[in-house]
Amino acid sequence: MRRRTLMTLGAAGLVSALPGCADGDEGKVPEAPKGPIVLGFSQVGSESGWRLANTKSIQSAARNNRIDLKFSNAEGDQAKQIAAIQSYIDARVNVISFAPVVESGWDDVLRRARDAGIPVVLTDRMINTKDESLYVSSIGAEFLSEGNLAALYLGLDFAAAAGPVNVVELLGTPDSTPTKQRSDGFAATIAREGKLRVVDAETGNWTQAGGATAMRKLLRRQKKIDAVFAQNDEMGLGAVAVLKEQGLKPGTQPRIVTVDATRAGLKALADGDLNYVVECSPEIGSQLMSVVVDLYLGGSVPKRIESQKNVFNRDTAKDALPTRTY
Ligand code: AHR
Repeated sequence: MRRRTLMTLGAAGLVSALPGCADGDEGKVPEAPKGPIVLGFSQVGSESGWRLANTKSIQSAARNNRIDLKFSNAEGDQAKQIAAIQSYIDARVNVISFAPVVESGWDDVLRRARDAGIPVVLTDRMINTKDESLYVSSIGAEFLSEGNLAALYLGLDFAAAAGPVNVVELLGTPDSTPTKQRSDGFAATIAREGKLRVVDAETGNWTQAGGATAMRKLLRRQKKIDAVFAQNDEMGLGAVAVLKEQGLKPGTQPRIVTVDATRAGLKALADGDLNYVVECSPEIGSQLMSVVVDLYLGGSVPKRIESQKNVFNRDTAKDALPTRTY
């Protein structure tokens, strides 16, 4: 049996969550699996270019790290995600990871994973729980800061505007971390700046069709829209199509900022249909596989790992496009 000391493992709650760690086993890492490490991963769905790139990143990083990935797609349905996690518990995988479709409602299934001694790593989004020992690590973006940046850059463009600037928001799925935190970050920054105000918002559920429908509703409700904050590229692109249909000139009136920085988003920015795109990198597969391997080999596992971000304007979008991988 292979044992190492646990001194370097930094994640809170890890000792009780590690596989094979029964009472009295504290201070030991689990027995390494004989074959490849088995990782059960439950993905949110395939709602956006970001999500497809995230799936690709996870699958290729698993292959490169010789991790046996059991992958399932919840198609935006929390019940399916809970069922997938339960199936990984029943199959006694070595590590479970998932990108939670919503924040609430995870405690029961994660308690069962903990009781079975299977460590859980959150990716992309967070969960709402009082018990942080239900997961050993989380890997993802600073969504709050993405909202801050979107408001900051949009605000700069209106520095010379005389009156209030009316902004409408295209929101992602309700109760998901990026929806809540991007909104909160945007609101916090415009409150400091004072000129921009969010006059209305609609959910577009992260999709282009959803963004188009939401934009149509907002145009019917609001007479004066100076700017649009679309919480992802897809919804922004849906809004661009509707605005053009209505004879408006997106990128000029109204101005538009989106989040993600997929190829499609950067292309629309370079073409002048958007004003800024805040990057949220989906390429977190290798960070996840490092955590999975470290859980078994006694490396240090931080409770929180952040992904890359950046803000693109039209010029930097043109520069980035030729090498953009997603
Ligand atoms: O959780 C990340 C978000 O989910 C992305 O910004 C969005 O495109 C995706 O669907």
